[in-house]
Amino acid sequence: MRVLGIETSCDETGVALYDGESGLMAHALYSQVQLHARYGGVVPELASRDHVRKLLPLIDKVLDEVGVDNRRIDGVAYTAGPGLVGALLVGAMTGRGLAWSWGVPAIAVHHMEGHLLAPMLEPESPGFPFLALLVSGGHSMLVEVEGVGRYQVLGDSIDDAVGEAFDKTAKLLGLSYPGGPALAKLALEGDPGRFSFPRPMTDRPGLDFSFSGLKTFALNTWRASAQTDQDRADIARAFEEAVVDTMAIKCRRAVAQTGIMSLVVAGGVGANRALRERLARLMEQEGGRVYYPRPEFCTDNGAMIAYAGYRRLQAGQSEPLSVKAMPRWSLEELAPADT
Ligand code: KG4
Ligand code: ZN
Repeated sequence: MRVLGIETSCDETGVALYDGESGLMAHALYSQVQLHARYGGVVPELASRDHVRKLLPLIDKVLDEVGVDNRRIDGVAYTAGPGLVGALLVGAMTGRGLAWSWGVPAIAVHHMEGHLLAPMLEPESPGFPFLALLVSGGHSMLVEVEGVGRYQVLGDSIDDAVGEAFDKTAKLLGLSYPGGPALAKLALEGDPGRFSFPRPMTDRPGLDFSFSGLKTFALNTWRASAQTDQDRADIARAFEEAVVDTMAIKCRRAVAQTGIMSLVVAGGVGANRALRERLARLMEQEGGRVYYPRPEFCTDNGAMIAYAGYRRLQAGQSEPLSVKAMPRWSLEELAPADT
C-alpha cells in the first residue's frame, strides 16, 4: 500500500509518499519561518494562505520525484488536528478532495500520533510497548504506547509547552524567531556553572510538566544582569540545562512507574542536542534504549503523517466523505489500529 501524507497543522507544509514495501519514497517540506519571522511568531491567517499557495506544487514535486502517476496512490493521509484550524483545513480539504477524485480512501491523522510513530521510519525502530516523550511547540507529554492508537497520557504540560518556553525565553533574550534552535546554539557558548535555574515540579510526585515559571526566572535573571552577550549565553545555558534535567527526571520516573525500557523522543524539541545526549545517557544507565527520528523528522513533516496514515489504512480504517479538522484533539480519543 502506498500512501500520500499531507501536513499543514502549523507553519510547515509537508508532503511525503510512503510505501508499505519500499518504505519512504519521497518527501518535501516548505517552511514558512521567513514569512512569520518579522512578527516574532506564527500568524494563523498568513499560515493558512501560504499553505494554499504551496501545498499543490509540493505534491507535484513529490510525485514527479518518484515518477508515479496519480493512479498508483492507494490512500491519502492528512493531519486533521491538533493545530491551527485554518491551516488544518487546507490540508484536510486538499487531502480529502484528492482521495475522492482518485477513488482511494482518506485517513485523518492526529499530528502527535505522527510525531510519536516517526522513529518507526528509521532502520532501528522500537517495538511496542514504549514510552514517548513528545516535546513540541504545542505539547510536552509523556505517553505510554502499547500499539498504534493505544495511548495513555502519563504526564502533560499544565501551562507553556516546552517548545513554547524555548521560543518565549529566546524572544525575551532578543533572539530571532524561531527561538528554540537559536537558544540551543547560544547555550553552547554559555558557562554551565554561573546560574542555577529551578527544576519545576520535580519536588513532588507525578509526571506533569510546567515550564512557564522557568521563562519568568530567565526574564528576572536577565533584568538583574548587565545584559552583556555573555550574560545572554549563560542564561540560555542555564535555561536549557534546567529544561533537559527536568525532562530527564520525569523520564526516569516514567520508566520506574511502568517498567518500560524503550523511550521514544519526538517533536521539534527532540532535535535539541543536549536533550538527545542526556536521554541517551539516562536510558543507558537504566539498561534500556532511546529512539529518535532523524532530526529533520523531529520537527513537522509529511513523512510521519504518511506513515501514521499507512498504519491506520492498513488496519482497515478510513474517513467518510466529509472533511475533518480538529484544533483540539486528545491522543486518548483515538481508536486502536491493530493489524
Ligand atoms: O514539532 P514542531 O516542529 O511543531 C509543533 O508541532 O509545535 O516543534 C516546534 C518547536 C518550536 O518551539 C521550536 O523552537 C522547537 O520545536 N525546537 C527546538 C529545537 N528545534 C526546534 N527547541 C530546542 N532546541 C532545538 N534544537
Ligand atoms: Zn509538531
